Amino acid sequence: VLDIRKLYGQAGVFTYDPGFTSTASCDSTITYIDGEKGVLLHRGYPISQLASQSHYLEVCYLLLYGELPSAAQLEDFESTITRHTMLHEQMQYFFRGFRRDAHPMATMVGVVGAMSAFYHDSTDINDPKQREIASHRLIAKMPTIAAWAYKYNLGQPFIYPRNDLDYASNFLHMCFAVPAEEYHVNPIIARAMDRIFTLHADHEQNASTSTVRLASSSGANPFACIAAGIACLWGPAHGGANQACLEMLKEIGTPDRIPEYIARAKDKNDPFRLMGFGHRVYKNFDPRAMVMKQSADEILDLLGVHNNPILATAKELEQQALADPYFAEKKLFPNVDFYSGVILEAMGFPTSMFTPIFALSRTVGWISQWKEQLEDPAHKIGRPRQLYLGATERDYVDIEDR
Ligand code: ACO
Repeated sequence: VLDIRKLYGQAGVFTYDPGFTSTASCDSTITYIDGEKGVLLHRGYPISQLASQSHYLEVCYLLLYGELPSAAQLEDFESTITRHTMLHEQMQYFFRGFRRDAHPMATMVGVVGAMSAFYHDSTDINDPKQREIASHRLIAKMPTIAAWAYKYNLGQPFIYPRNDLDYASNFLHMCFAVPAEEYHVNPIIARAMDRIFTLHADHEQNASTSTVRLASSSGANPFACIAAGIACLWGPAHGGANQACLEMLKEIGTPDRIPEYIARAKDKNDPFRLMGFGHRVYKNFDPRAMVMKQSADEILDLLGVHNNPILATAKELEQQALADPYFAEKKLFPNVDFYSGVILEAMGFPTSMFTPIFALSRTVGWISQWKEQLEDPAHKIGRPRQLYLGATERDYVDIEDR
C-alpha cells in the first residue's frame, strides 16, 4: 500500500500490485480455488466429480445459472444450444478473407468479434433476454467457429453442424468429417473431448477472464468482450501453453534429453521455461492436471496407442522436475496444459488447434463471469491506476533546439 500523498500530494492511499498477485477485482459466486490445497470448485462442486460424473453442457448450465439443472431444464438447454450451432451463412466470407495459413486463434478473434455485426438482436447488454441469447449463441457457435477455422487451414469444405449429435461429437464431426467419406464419431474420443471441455470450462479471474470483465465494464457488446478474451488466452503464458508444451515435448524427443531441458529451465540467463509447468494460484497441484493425466492414460489405452513416446517423455519430465529442488522450492507443478496436448494429438488434432479448443471450452466461463458482472447493480468501469515514474513537468522544446 502506497501513500499517494507522498507521490502526488493528494489525499488517500492505493495499492501497487503488478500482475495483480494479491488484488481481488470483483466478488463472484461461480468458481472457488484454493491454490495451497489444490481445490477447484464450480458453484461448490469439485472439478474431479464434474469431470467424471457430469458432462460439459450440464457444467455450462451450472456455471451460467448457478445450480445443476433438472432433467427437463437440461433437455431444454441442450436443445437450445443445439439449435444455435449454425453460423450466419455470410460469415463464411469472413473466414475466406483470412490467409489460408492463418492461425485458427487469429481467425477466431476476428470472427467472434464480427458476430456483433451479424447478431444485432443480442447486443443490448441492458436487456436480460438479449444477454441470455448472446450467451447461448456464443456457447453454441464457438465449436462451429473453431472447426471452420481448422477446415479453412486444411482447404477442406466447411462441415455444417448436426442436430442429432451431442456437443463434443458435433465438434469432432465438424473437424474431421469430409463430404466424400463416411465419418462416424468414436464415442471414446467424444467422451474424452467432452472431459477436456469440462476441465477448461472456468477458472475464476485468470488473465483472459479478467480481460473479458474489463472489456465488458465499459458496456462493450458480448461478442467484442469474448473476442478480447480469446486474444488474451492465445499467449503462451496462458492458453497458448498447451500448444507450446506439446511442441516442447516433441523437441525433447527422448527421455535422455530431459536433464538438458530441466537445466535450461533453471538457468536464469535462458528465457526457456518448462511449458505446462507452474501456475499463479496453484502452489501444490493443479487438480485439473491430475484428471488430465489419468485421462491421457485411459484414452491412449482405449485407442490402442501403447508406448506413446510423447506421453512417456511427459511422465518422465514430470518425475524429474518434481524431484528437483528448484521446482519444489518454487512450488512448480504440472498444470492443466501439461497432459492435454498428448490427448489432443492422439485424437488427431494438430498443435495449432489446441488453444482454439481451450477457447471454445472457456467461452462458458467468460460468458458466465460477464453475465454475473452485468447483473451486479454495483458494477463499475474497470480503471486501474498506475505508479508514474516518468519525467516531472517540463516545457516543450522546439524541434530546432533539441
Ligand atoms: N519453468 C521454469 N521456471 C519457472 C516456471 C517454469 N514453467 N514457471 C515459473 N518459474 C519460475 C520463475 O522463473 C520465477 O523464478 P524466480 O523467482 O527465480 O524469478 C518463479 O518460478 C515464479 O514465476 P513467475 O513467473 O513469477 O510466476 P507467475 O505466477 O507470474 O507465473 C506462469 C505463472 C505464467 C503460469 C508461469 O509459471 C509460466 O510461465 N509457466 C509456463 C507457461 C504455462 O504453462 N502457462 C499455463 C498456465 S495455466 C493456464 O493458463 C491454463
